[in-house]
Amino acid sequence: MNLKSILLVLSLAWRAFAYKILLLAPIPIRSLNILGVGYVRHLINAGHEVTYVSAYPVKDISSNNFRQVDLSDTHLNLIAEDDSLNISYLMSHPLDEDGEIEYLQISSVEVGIATFENKQMLALLNDPSVTFDVVICDFVESEIYAALAAYYDCPMIWEYSMGSHWQTLRLIDETTNPAYAFDYLTSDIPPHHSVGTRVKKVWSQIKWQFMKYKTLPLERGFYYEFFGPLMAKKNKPLPDYDALIYNASLVLSNDYVGNGRITSVPQNFKFIGGYHIETPTKPVPTEIKTILDNAQHGFIYFSMGSLWRSKDIPEHVTKALLDLFGSLKETVMWKYEDKLLNVPKNVHIVPWAPQQTHPKCKFFISHGGLLSTLESIHFGVPTIGIPLYFDQFINVNRDVISGRTVKVDFTLNLVEDLRLAIQKIRHPSYKQQAMELSQIYHDRPVSPGKELVHWVEHVIKTGGAPHLRSPASMMPWYQKMFLDVVLYIVAVVSVFVYLVKKYQCTKKIVCSSKKLN
Ligand SMILES: *[C@@H]1O[C@H](CO)[C@@H](O)[C@H](O)[C@H]1NC(C)=O
Repeated sequence: MNLKSILLVLSLAWRAFAYKILLLAPIPIRSLNILGVGYVRHLINAGHEVTYVSAYPVKDISSNNFRQVDLSDTHLNLIAEDDSLNISYLMSHPLDEDGEIEYLQISSVEVGIATFENKQMLALLNDPSVTFDVVICDFVESEIYAALAAYYDCPMIWEYSMGSHWQTLRLIDETTNPAYAFDYLTSDIPPHHSVGTRVKKVWSQIKWQFMKYKTLPLERGFYYEFFGPLMAKKNKPLPDYDALIYNASLVLSNDYVGNGRITSVPQNFKFIGGYHIETPTKPVPTEIKTILDNAQHGFIYFSMGSLWRSKDIPEHVTKALLDLFGSLKETVMWKYEDKLLNVPKNVHIVPWAPQQTHPKCKFFISHGGLLSTLESIHFGVPTIGIPLYFDQFINVNRDVISGRTVKVDFTLNLVEDLRLAIQKIRHPSYKQQAMELSQIYHDRPVSPGKELVHWVEHVIKTGGAPHLRSPASMMPWYQKMFLDVVLYIVAVVSVFVYLVKKYQCTKKIVCSSKKLN
């Protein structure tokens, strides 16, 4: 064999392992996009072809194996900031949990429909030369994207940003027992011993299901209307929507078991939390590096995440925060998207900062989003958690239990509470616990990024990994609850009672007729 044919064989072998992957992160929330880009990076580096559908096109990845469907023209305004999402409103009003579910469920369906109706997406769907080996999609309340697995005749993987909540486990296993399930809409950490909490958990599941009954027909209707003609063009039957959405091969969860209190999950639920953190870490931008290098007494990092913009905080609170930060000896780096006046000398406003550690970082004041949580665990940094929304409450509560976090409520008393929390977090035990958890986190057989690639390839190679599926997902609920058995016993007992009664009755007649004689 000459060199040319060896190269040809090698390149063919390579092609055989380069899978075609359709990856979607359609919800226009930046942190979800950070997670999506993590998938892109790992899968491209493993030699696969990725088509990425998102509202935030990636600019710094150039590879012949990378294509993008840009949703920014239709999607950026879809998650509008209504009152209940506004940060200053949240400060003086209790969180409206029902409103939260309703908002999330309805907007997820809207985003789903807008995704399929987007021009670039339509062009992709109508291109007969396009095929895929797997569809991976970020799961936020709507299962409509499962249609793509049917359309491209390939397995489906859900990417889940928030942990191991029953809302996702129900897709591949069953609705977890509310007595010990994680539920991102309530903040209690399982196990739930108190009667009140258990009732609250059951109620949360009922409310969620009830809302789902409202949005499911919208999705189902759209599915038949939109995918019916597309599948007909391919001469393929359209699978039943309600079977399709429970047919995913895998859920890849952005959480890590070392966080604790995780319930048992089926074999096709995998924890890959932390894969979005680039290792080795990229160099910090010069401007930020100079600030950090000059931080004589170490520094504190303050960020309320990507969705919750600091500039929505009322002015007098901002001023009080600046006064508080100004009174500290450490340098404070505040992620803030606007210009600020009268900033104390030790406070630096940055529009964005890479959240990687620096040996001088004393602690991190955060909203408790899972990305920030995982980053602080990865680097062993204690945190002050100020949860606002979604899973942030449960994340922060879990961190408080682990002993590396102090929680502060987001109220009009924020600044005073934060002052006390800052005093508390200086106790060395918080740093010690943070380092301990970080060691647990790093003590695993492979890195989360490698695991991500492994499971995606495994699903493709094994035609949807049917061997990993949970038998619970193959049974109707009445069988799992033994209701058929109960019905059978009730029937047998009823017949028996009936017969006994009838027998007694005949005997009575017999007896009474004897007496008559
Ligand atoms: C379920 O998934 C498997 C594996 O990807 C596939 O072969 C099957 O056709 C799917 N069934 C439905 C109803 O979509």
